[in-house]
Amino acid sequence: MKILAIVAQKGGSGKTTLAVHMAVCACRQNLRTALIDLDPQGSAHDWNESREDRDKLDAVKAGSGHLAALLKQAQAAGADLVIIDTAPHSDSAAALVAQFSDFILMPCRPARFDLKAIGSTAQIAKLARTPAAVVINAAPRGRLAEEARAALEEQGIVVVDPVLQQRAAYSHAVIDGRSVHEYEPDGKAAAEIDALFAYVRQVMNI
Ligand SMILES: Nc1ncnc2c1ncn2[C@@H]1O[C@H](COP(=O)(O)OP(=O)(O)O)[C@@H](O)[C@H]1O
Ligand SMILES: [Mg+2]
Repeated sequence: MKILAIVAQKGGSGKTTLAVHMAVCACRQNLRTALIDLDPQGSAHDWNESREDRDKLDAVKAGSGHLAALLKQAQAAGADLVIIDTAPHSDSAAALVAQFSDFILMPCRPARFDLKAIGSTAQIAKLARTPAAVVINAAPRGRLAEEARAALEEQGIVVVDPVLQQRAAYSHAVIDGRSVHEYEPDGKAAAEIDALFAYVRQVMNI
């Protein structure tokens, strides 16, 4: 069983968006997948609740104190992949998650304050010795994404190749519990998510 965590200390960077899309992708590729929502706001869990019964994922909402037990349960149930969505602004929970995880994706918008904040998340991953990489999310058209990539790489932070652009499909799809694959299967957002999940499978050896 592999454990993928989505962590970024900044709210609104795209953690929940990534978590639910990685989870749907994994299910579509027939991986037994569990989604653990550690954010008290419970957005990923709510999203799953709003899905049709037959499409519901195996998702739970919990405090980080329950993480170890939930991971044991997932292992016993034969999960291939566990995806953990996390809350912003919680160093201690992020550190705990980082210790348990095999890989951390850190969504970051290509904007000044976001780029500054991602350093502390990268530091948490580093202290836990867990491999981690930034996904540039909600990039506008133009050079900003590549400028952000250069700035992050200069600080020694790994940035994945696929960039998620700012696309209405990401926010429209989740309104009624869908993913971009279910909203617009041949759209550009679905292709971005496929590319990102292919990277995740490769880097995590899944
Ligand atoms: N690539 C994107 N394009 C357009 N909207 C996005 C994108 N990524 C995230 N969003 C929107 O930004 C908001 C914050 O994203 P969310 O995943 O909830 O962030 P977090 O979980 O880190 O707080 C949501 O309304 C979401 O739909
Ligand atoms: Mg969230």
